[in-house]
Amino acid sequence: MANDSNKFQAIISHCKEYGFIFPSSEIYDGLQAVYDYGQMGSELKKNIKDYWWKSMTQLQDNIVGIDAAIFMHPTVWKASGHIDNFNDPMIDNKDSNKRYRVDHLIEGFAEEQSAMGNEQLANDVLATMEVMLAKDDFAGLKKLIEDNNIKCAISGTRNWSDIRQFNLMFSTQIGSVAGEEENSIVYLRPETAQGIFVNFLNVQKTGRMKIPFGIAQTGKAFRNEIVARQFIFRMREFEQMEMQFFVRPGTEGEWYQYWKKTRLEWHLSLGFDPAKFRYHDHLKLAHYAKEACDIEFEFPIGFKEVEGIHSRTDFDLKQHQEFSKKKLQYFDNDIDPVTGKPFGNYIPYVVETSIGLDRMFLLVMSSAYEEQDLGTAERADSRVVLKLPNQLAPVKLAILPLVKKDGLPEIAKKIMDDCRSSFRCFYEEKDTIGKRYRRMDAIGTPFCVTVDQQTKEDNTVTIRHRDSMEQERVGIEKIKEIVQASL
Ligand code: GAP
Repeated sequence: MANDSNKFQAIISHCKEYGFIFPSSEIYDGLQAVYDYGQMGSELKKNIKDYWWKSMTQLQDNIVGIDAAIFMHPTVWKASGHIDNFNDPMIDNKDSNKRYRVDHLIEGFAEEQSAMGNEQLANDVLATMEVMLAKDDFAGLKKLIEDNNIKCAISGTRNWSDIRQFNLMFSTQIGSVAGEEENSIVYLRPETAQGIFVNFLNVQKTGRMKIPFGIAQTGKAFRNEIVARQFIFRMREFEQMEMQFFVRPGTEGEWYQYWKKTRLEWHLSLGFDPAKFRYHDHLKLAHYAKEACDIEFEFPIGFKEVEGIHSRTDFDLKQHQEFSKKKLQYFDNDIDPVTGKPFGNYIPYVVETSIGLDRMFLLVMSSAYEEQDLGTAERADSRVVLKLPNQLAPVKLAILPLVKKDGLPEIAKKIMDDCRSSFRCFYEEKDTIGKRYRRMDAIGTPFCVTVDQQTKEDNTVTIRHRDSMEQERVGIEKIKEIVQASL
């Protein structure tokens, strides 16, 4: 069994070996922090996205979805504060020229200390860092790095530059020749949220939405992460699933608590171990936030953020109203019990839920991946199984004729034709049945049916359950029902 420190590497290798994730442009040695999803990975990713989309739109009375463009008017990013504030403090090692995000450098040191048993020091350093980051105290942070003798992993020296802010947005030119005019610069969106804010009134009016209501969206976002590492945990091109919930001013505190609880319940609804989740309330708030917390998951690399819940006040709509000179207000004709009159016109407050699809993918993989020793006194045996929630599994049912003759493939193909329009099936007749089961375990297929000689006599097959490896004999007509009931 892989332990936690090498489980992460095992998951990365497994993702590549079974067609889940490949490094981007691998034949050219890859592009750092950019990844491609393969034939299994794209199915799993789509299933995660669909699960989120359904629970955040279809199963809600008052949340609708949109799909805004990646490119937006450049003023959007001025108004949103991203041009001025979407920065990370960085420090350079002057000997190796390697640039580090300050928080990552200090966190790396704390992790090392903790692994060496110096838990107290690790906690103290992290607590001091949080306070200093919250105050943008760069001199204090540099001193913290120096006082703790934190070295560059490449040069091994402590020859550090001053700490400076770096903007994380990618830019490009639109229309005209690159570099010609300043106003031709457009940004690749660093969050999908702004596409929702600028469409707030379009959706509210055309959908006749009544506050409180939400707008959801999934899509690509781009950040020039300086320290891009840890596989798909931190990417330069990634996908977000965000929802902005518009509420009456003064009610944002309750809604923030509501979404904090509801989003954690969503994660647990997939059957993951509750002990692997925790909240992390932010001390350092993003430039738009009044309250914020992360839902953290215990990845093999430790507890890390998977989703953020942010109380964004009326910051974004107010800014867009000011920069666009277009009114972004809502007329609330509900009666205010205090004044006895309608609440009237206001800019709504916003509570946001924002989850990274790729990070959720990694969560699902980390939780599902298991190496099992199945050996007995007589025989060594093992398997790698992905215990994926059935709703998310790329393939739901494998259909396997025991042998490639005697009419068994024909029966198996008929089962395949009967089931494939209801859920994703996979047909295979090559190799021993044991090897075929192992391959299905490795991609997380919850059910395998085997067609054998008895099938010809009584129209039954064996259905094998991935997690327990138990097999039962069922009528062919029952297969679809069994699989569908588990989704
Ligand atoms: N609209 C708010 C927002 O973007 P965020 O905390 O910066 O907030 C939200 O990002 C989520 O997006 C994170 O919780 C994480 O899951 C995901 N995310 C952010 N940066 C990422 C990156 N570089 N690679 C992969 N996922 C990322």
